[in-house]
Amino acid sequence: MSVNWALPFNTKIVPKSNKVVDINTYKEIHSTSLRDYKGFWASVASELDWFKPWEKVLDDSNPPFYKWFVGGEINASYLAVDRHAKSWRKNKVAIIWEGEPVDENGNPKEVRKLTYYDLYTEVNRVAYILRNKYGLKKGDAVAIYLPMIPELPIFMLALARIGVVFTVVFSGFSADALATRIDDAQAKVLITADGGWRRGKIVPLKDIADKALEKVSTVKDVIVVRRTGQKVNMVEGRDKYLDDVLREVPQGVYVEPERIKSEDPLYILYTSGTTGKPKGIVHDTGGYLTLLHATMKWVFDVRDDDIYWCTADIGWVTGHSYIVFGPLMEGVTEIMYEGALDYPKPDRWVSIIERYGVTIFYTSPTAIRSFMKYGDEWVKAHKTDTIRIIHSVGEPINPEAFEWLWKLIGRGEVPFGSTWWMTETGGIMISHLPGLYLIPLKPGTNGMPLPGIEADVVDDNGNPTKPEERGYLVIKNPWPGMPLTIHRDPERYIKIYWSKFPGMFYAGDYAVKDSDGYFWVLGRADEVIKVAGHRLGTYELESAIIEHPAVAEAAVVGVPDPVKGEVPVAFVILKQGVSPSKNLMDDILKTVRDKVGPIATLSSIYFVSKLPKTRSGKIMRRVVKAVITNQPVGDITTLENEASVEEVKKAYEEFK
Ligand code: WTA
Repeated sequence: MSVNWALPFNTKIVPKSNKVVDINTYKEIHSTSLRDYKGFWASVASELDWFKPWEKVLDDSNPPFYKWFVGGEINASYLAVDRHAKSWRKNKVAIIWEGEPVDENGNPKEVRKLTYYDLYTEVNRVAYILRNKYGLKKGDAVAIYLPMIPELPIFMLALARIGVVFTVVFSGFSADALATRIDDAQAKVLITADGGWRRGKIVPLKDIADKALEKVSTVKDVIVVRRTGQKVNMVEGRDKYLDDVLREVPQGVYVEPERIKSEDPLYILYTSGTTGKPKGIVHDTGGYLTLLHATMKWVFDVRDDDIYWCTADIGWVTGHSYIVFGPLMEGVTEIMYEGALDYPKPDRWVSIIERYGVTIFYTSPTAIRSFMKYGDEWVKAHKTDTIRIIHSVGEPINPEAFEWLWKLIGRGEVPFGSTWWMTETGGIMISHLPGLYLIPLKPGTNGMPLPGIEADVVDDNGNPTKPEERGYLVIKNPWPGMPLTIHRDPERYIKIYWSKFPGMFYAGDYAVKDSDGYFWVLGRADEVIKVAGHRLGTYELESAIIEHPAVAEAAVVGVPDPVKGEVPVAFVILKQGVSPSKNLMDDILKTVRDKVGPIATLSSIYFVSKLPKTRSGKIMRRVVKAVITNQPVGDITTLENEASVEEVKKAYEEFK
């Protein structure tokens, strides 16, 4: 659990907004929506453009494999581009993209602005080659390993158009991580780039992809987007540059969007869990788009004159839902950027807000804390008074970071929330709703569940906890946007999410409700680590460490970090005869970076001779974490070797 600050349960702030309601009014609206949640969601879904209406709102005959809007036919690409390209929004800018290389004053050297018509044209051209040249069709899968360039949403929309399921792999992942995902998804085609820019350096994506491809057998074709321009290895017959392939596309080509069944998959996104390899969360089409439509309106209150900016990377779920499908479906103008928010100078993010007049800003607590560290002057040097809504996501937000950003760019008056959701939920579940009914803010809270969402905090027996008592976050009714399953592993889907509390979706988070009924998510209840809001499983990190020839065993836990929220540290037992050294430590760090990717950098390694284990030999990470964070160790009756606890403590304190 990562929260280690006092929670201001009773601080209420009323933002400037004509949507403000008192808490009891909202509670009533919420409970009314739950009385007939199927009807409620059906009315939201009816606001989308369906090719064919559904016959049944919810098929709940085989829980937990729920199906929403059964019989309905829809297409995500049609909703995101065709509808706007055919309307007055045709020449409205959809995406303003800023590349990373910048001049000495911090101004971007490359800016691309794509109107909805441009996007429509590009999506059709790409869909054409995917279908006609590569022969991709419904039922196939494709992997995407691209940097933050407009081609990334273009490919996602083109694949959605022809009903081909895709999996986007974050460009900070390594060759091994990419290979595992390609293999699990059985991807036939890989879409990548020569490289991407990050902090003045080229991330050699094609080289990494080549290494991944040595390990998998499903990929027959590779499409390479030219971005950084350096020479890369191109395998004859397998690899082609996108611009070369696009040259063959006839002028003005149109690819008719497939009529996708509501319950058919749109994409697979891999996410870390407690044990085992990453889980391929499969999202449906109709339910997912319904939730995105609702949340774009309620949470972000998007309007046609907004400049919307979600600072996430499309490689994570936030980018899928709130850069690609949500905003484009709603026809907004949005910002997309390559590189980092604080490079080359700490004020890149505020200069983007100023340059384009951003009105809606969606970011992460880690980003806010890193801005804070640089000091207020960087922010004050820019005009930010266009901002009218702020939200954060990915991890709990500390009240101090909330207040800092709220006062500095929110003028101490705009709505500012912390939206709780996860890869599995598809979209936002618990949030303040500046576009619907807005309850008072409290620095650090997540607010209350959305209408139509029955979330709760329960104890070990599944009973609701008392106010301010810690429990587990659950969702008690099916919702549109929920997963279809875990790809190729439905049993695991049941086991992980639907078995701890029968009939309830178990999120894996600790939370409390305060006496007003506000939710405060405290952090993970399992061994998932959130580093800078990125989700990492201990299993992946540990498997990487023990691949090092000198290592016998390893335990990884997350420890609090003032900026990143949490960072991973490892306790390592070396093989007999190997002695600890600085070189060895560096070598192990490198192994983890190579195996998992640069996002998986361990903050420290501690060498020990024993680790706390149960009698059956399972490492008790919970005990390791409690010891080093000075928390009570709790029940250790199953602990096999008590001396290990002392040793962990000593190793940590000596080298801290
Ligand atoms: C955490 C990211 C507190 C939580 C969208 C969850 C949060 C995990 C918040 C999912 C928030 C996300 N406040 N914690 N506003 N938002 N989390 O799958 O632990 O990358 O279970 O999805 O992030 O991470 P994921």
